Amino acid sequence: MFKLKQLFSRQKKTYANKPDLAGVPYHVAVIMDGNGRWAKKRGLPRIAGHRAGMESVKEITTAADDIGVQILTLYAFSTENWKRPEQEVDFLMRLPQEFLLLELETLMKNNVRIRILGDLDALPSHTQTSINAACEKTKNNTGMVLNIALNYGSRTEILDAIRSIAKDVKAGLLDPESIDESAINSRLMTQGIPDPDLLIRTSGELRLSNFLLWQCAYTELWFTDIFWPDFKREHFYEAIRAYQKRGRRFGGLK
Ligand code: FPP
Repeated sequence: MFKLKQLFSRQKKTYANKPDLAGVPYHVAVIMDGNGRWAKKRGLPRIAGHRAGMESVKEITTAADDIGVQILTLYAFSTENWKRPEQEVDFLMRLPQEFLLLELETLMKNNVRIRILGDLDALPSHTQTSINAACEKTKNNTGMVLNIALNYGSRTEILDAIRSIAKDVKAGLLDPESIDESAINSRLMTQGIPDPDLLIRTSGELRLSNFLLWQCAYTELWFTDIFWPDFKREHFYEAIRAYQKRGRRFGGLK
């Protein structure tokens, strides 16, 4: 009810190229790429690109919520990103807490729930503390879910699911013949979350980079050359409108 009221009041706002609210994807996932190149183009250090990228995180979170997206999943740090220079990793680990410090009030006001995908145990304790506090504080919110993928890697996630299945088989709790998609789904970090309807990747790279590989089997993909810090509300709505023109068949006939 609250969500409906919220949507109704927001519908009054007019944004250029606002998509048709009737066909908004339920779950949108985003690979936020190009922060480093955005900074390089301006002669700035890479971390300046990540800071500017945080502004796009704020704008796209609001833009998604405004049109009724129910789940927004953002790829903020992959299991491979640890290979970056220490200073950059330290900075990236501080961004979620800075974002939450600045935005938690607004997220609460907008009834947004924060969730995390990824192995939090390996993160610095200050990052864990702020994230756990935000998840706890927003856990009863019933509006959009903002899923932040932090220290997330899809292959590790799938391997962990397979290990868990193997253990259950060995313990006699699971018959190998009965292993189906739901046996995998229920052991993934996205357990209980429907697969993304639309995946957006910025910066001109055309790959999935170990993000939601199982979950994106039938996801519509949309790529843009725009670097993440330049990716704003109008670009997000352009992606949504492109999605709305697609015919999804899930392997069936038209
Ligand atoms: C990829 O660009 C971006 C990242 C690895 C980090 C993304 C993080 C943010 C935008 C901030 C996240 C903040 C919150 C609160 C979720 P890149 O560095 O690989 O860019 P490049 O390919 O141009 O080098």
